[in-house]
Amino acid sequence: MDRIRIVGGAELRGSIPISGAKNAALPLMTASLLTDDTVILDNVPRLSDVMQLLRILGNHGVDHSISGKRVGQESETGQTIQLSARQIVDTTAPYELVSRMRASFWVIAPLLARMGQAKVSLPGGCAIGTRPVDFYLMALERLGAKIEIEAGYVIATAKDGLKGAEIEFPKVTVGGTHTAVMAAVLAKGTTVIRNAAQEPEIGDLCALLVKMGARISGAGTSTITIDGASRLSGARHTVLPDRIETGTYAMAVAMAGGDVMLEGARPELLQKAFDTLTATGAEILATNEGVRVRRNGSGIAAVDVTTQPFPGFPTDLQAQFMALMTRAKGVSHIRETIFENRFMHVQELARFGAHIKLDGDLATVEGVPTLKGAPVMATDLRASVGLVIAALAAEGETMVHRVYHLDRGFEALEKKLSRCGAQVERLTG
Ligand code: UD1
Repeated sequence: MDRIRIVGGAELRGSIPISGAKNAALPLMTASLLTDDTVILDNVPRLSDVMQLLRILGNHGVDHSISGKRVGQESETGQTIQLSARQIVDTTAPYELVSRMRASFWVIAPLLARMGQAKVSLPGGCAIGTRPVDFYLMALERLGAKIEIEAGYVIATAKDGLKGAEIEFPKVTVGGTHTAVMAAVLAKGTTVIRNAAQEPEIGDLCALLVKMGARISGAGTSTITIDGASRLSGARHTVLPDRIETGTYAMAVAMAGGDVMLEGARPELLQKAFDTLTATGAEILATNEGVRVRRNGSGIAAVDVTTQPFPGFPTDLQAQFMALMTRAKGVSHIRETIFENRFMHVQELARFGAHIKLDGDLATVEGVPTLKGAPVMATDLRASVGLVIAALAAEGETMVHRVYHLDRGFEALEKKLSRCGAQVERLTG
């Protein structure tokens, strides 16, 4: 299994191109199931989650072609993927394919909307809490689907098609909102989604669907209204830049010190995280090229954070921020409100000498002047990159094991960091 070796201590200087967002690319690719025309997506990141979703879509009959440079090749721009679901040959998404990635469950909505039936294995994905699918199923039922659960599979049917309805989510859910939107675009009549997620990736999905002929208003707000269409056509769309990757490298610079241009980053996608970083003493400058992040030798101030749905501080940056706070001057309180059990990085950070106390959903981090490199284990996607950030500022060598978690969501991580002067290398095998 691949490992990443990091020798800490170097400042980061240079530029890092920001990739297309994984969390946008996955629903955009899934939306290709809604039409028998071709959907073309530009700026798709080279990630193992993208390849896994291509396998899942292929199983349903989606043909794809990839242009642009391939996995492992140097490139500054993302790949272009053409997806064509001319014929859906299978409406079942089997356990072997779905269990690795929670977002693969989202195929349920377009399959049901277009074919009137779908059988999808209950999902897997990062081990960051129980992550149920009850809100997804509630939304589909509201739209008229019959739902049964049998032997680990959700079987959804809508013999006479889906019908527009009011859906109110009891809690903000990104996947639930994606599901409701993809189901409603082909339903008869009007659907109103209340307490919808406002994450930019929802806006990106809706932007593609509108190009395909869907009638959607209110995307990016908490109420989305959709007038169902009888058919959607093909379209071409560019995946928005990855705000979590952007925030991650910004935190890496805040941790290691230096001056880095995050090329193509859009500050409005993570204003809260940037405000928080500014409070820690980092300097954030929006420019035409992207976002420039700097920190001089003045140290890291301790700042409290509570994760919230967008536009709040993202849960997907919590582990990275905690890594940064391990070296702050003072005590920081980090509250995780989205996922229970999303603190698996705490015990790994302790291996660097970090002082963190856990009490339910609250982590109290007492900054220490130095961290020491250590062998650590990646436990989930975002937690693992938190360990990388800690390693960049730790004295000596860190070996990060199980880096397949990183490959799910961070394109060319070691190359992007080493071109800015970090000592990072991947050891294969
Ligand atoms: C998506 C993101 C993930 C991010 C998360 C929150 C993708 C591929 N993944 O995950 O990176 O961390 O949003 O921003 O885009 N819940 C239920 N029942 C449901 C659905 C959700 O109780 O049916 C709960 C979850 O357990 C969690 C909360 O709702 O506590 C929010 O989860 P949700 O927004 O749905 O996360 P994902 O869409 O899985």
